[in-house]
Amino acid sequence: MARIVGGVGTTHVPSIGKAIAEHKDKDPYWSPFFDGFHAVHQWLGRVKPDVAVVFYNDHGLNFFLDKLPTFAVGAANEYRNEDEGWGIPVSKALAGDAAFSWHLINALVADEFDITMCQDMLVDHAVTIPMALMWPGGGSCPVKIVPISINTVQHLLPSVSRCLKLGRSIGHAIESYEQDLRVMIVGTGGLSHQLDGERAGFINKEFDQLCMDKIVNDPDALTRYTISQLVEQAGAQGVELLNWVAMRGALTGRVSELHRNYHIPISNTAATMLLDNQAVAQRQAA
Ligand code: DHB
Ligand code: FE
Repeated sequence: MARIVGGVGTTHVPSIGKAIAEHKDKDPYWSPFFDGFHAVHQWLGRVKPDVAVVFYNDHGLNFFLDKLPTFAVGAANEYRNEDEGWGIPVSKALAGDAAFSWHLINALVADEFDITMCQDMLVDHAVTIPMALMWPGGGSCPVKIVPISINTVQHLLPSVSRCLKLGRSIGHAIESYEQDLRVMIVGTGGLSHQLDGERAGFINKEFDQLCMDKIVNDPDALTRYTISQLVEQAGAQGVELLNWVAMRGALTGRVSELHRNYHIPISNTAATMLLDNQAVAQRQAA
């Protein structure tokens, strides 16, 4: 059976892609952020995941404001990136696992999630940057992905509670997959940031710390925030927290924090978190 090994929450700021391309990871400006990934690399070397389920938000590459699904699940064997205009190199295509995607889609629909199924899906910086951070060096990524896009862009957005439930549904679906896959969960974006308008550059460190604490031990506590309150607390793009919430929802076992790095600012925001997931059945056996 498939097993959920843990989760990673990480920012997806596009300028990271530029820093990678220009080998700036050891520069004083960038190193406090890149160094935060050493623990993630060690963990990945240990748990050796086969697949990453990636909760992210598309920023206009695959979906635009005219048609924007609330939840979209990739069901392809390959996901291409294209030039989004950030001045970063186009990434290599990432491998998918369509059979696993369809298993998850079946389970989501059975759980009454009305999702959009995408057999052809471009993935933007919100997928490619986290993958490049986790597997640096520019080689082929060793895991297959299932990209799940959550609308954090065009209001009305799904609630925190709905995203937590989406993650939980995915978590249970993973555990019922017959193949012996080691599955990691990724949530990208956030935490607090605002890119434009009067509050451009807005960051709320206290709220970010609170969100990270709650993500570990009490994700349900975050469901008390309405989307408007999240925008107020975290900025217009801070609602990307929804991707972290879904990631946490998919960790169905006993969750513990292995590592966190909070260094601001690189561009407008930067947070990284690594969570371990011990399956409950495994715990009983131990
Ligand atoms: C930045 C952050 C984002 O989440 C994004 O999608 C694009 C840019 C930034 O901070 O520059
Ligand atoms: Fe973003």
